[in-house]
Amino acid sequence: MVKARIAVLVSGGGTNLQALIDAQGKGIIKSGEIVLVVSNKKDAYALTRAQNAGIKTAVIEKKGNPDFENDIIALLKSDGIDVIVLAGFMCILSEHFTKTFENRILNVHPSLIPSFCGEGFYGLHVHEAALNYGVKVTGATVHFVNEIPDGGKIILQKAVEVKEDDTPEILQKRVMEQAEWIILPQAVEIVSKNYIKE
Ligand code: GAR
Repeated sequence: MVKARIAVLVSGGGTNLQALIDAQGKGIIKSGEIVLVVSNKKDAYALTRAQNAGIKTAVIEKKGNPDFENDIIALLKSDGIDVIVLAGFMCILSEHFTKTFENRILNVHPSLIPSFCGEGFYGLHVHEAALNYGVKVTGATVHFVNEIPDGGKIILQKAVEVKEDDTPEILQKRVMEQAEWIILPQAVEIVSKNYIKE
């Protein structure tokens, strides 16, 4: 069996990337192997996490680069990537990109889609919006990526309780620990199975 080749796209701290690396170590991800981490920010701590795990890294910056997406596509193709995971990747991808890798791109979003999602809902803003609305339950979603921001088919979701004195930061941490870091590796395994080569 030849495992699916996985690339993870990141922009920041990379705790979800770390969850994927740890899940691979524990055999939760067994049908694929993380072979590449791409960041659009050169100072993203996620790059250090990848390097510590011995995974190849690349930085492709968006600012001032009209070929941003095409540069990423070329890299993913030259590395024979089968599955692409957006793990805290803070760029919206065009239809050209998403169609190039149809049914191969997953994203983790820190709410129960269709709540608190779409353009402008990313990172802490999502949890601020959930607290402002006053929901008592939130969570995380892993979904396929298509041309609609946060609009692709849902793969897994997990609910998380909102508590009385939550701040956006406290809620973000609970959603990560109780949902994102669990369902993202599970979803990556589910999708990687489709791209195993015999
Ligand atoms: C995570 O909470 C992720 O779900 C969110 O950003 C954070 C990145 O943290 N992504 C989005 O909001 C995408 N719309 P990480 O870099 O520590 O994984």
